[in-house]
Amino acid sequence: MRVAVTALDDLPNERGVRVRVGDLRIAMFRVGDEVFALDDRCSHAEAWLSEGEIFDDAVECPRHGSEFNLRTGRPMSLPATKPVPVYPVDIEDGTVYLTISEETE
Ligand code: FES
Repeated sequence: MRVAVTALDDLPNERGVRVRVGDLRIAMFRVGDEVFALDDRCSHAEAWLSEGEIFDDAVECPRHGSEFNLRTGRPMSLPATKPVPVYPVDIEDGTVYLTISEETE
């Protein structure tokens, strides 16, 4: 399922935004001309990645500091050891779309 979620111009640079698609909470990050989408919930414990800081191509969990790669969702530092789901993003005519697979809906 491909869903229009926001206008590219409405996404702040290098700061997280939470969007909801059905029951999913998704953290979106714009870094320059690229946009990334990860599951908002940290894989380690109760924390929201949309509230984390961006460092290069990673977001730092605001609770215990694990960094997650924005492209793969993999943790790059402890204490998190499991990846968070990532969602394909595409941008068309200034609108940002997410693709949600049926397994994650
Ligand atoms: S809650 Fe994110 S690293 Fe612990």
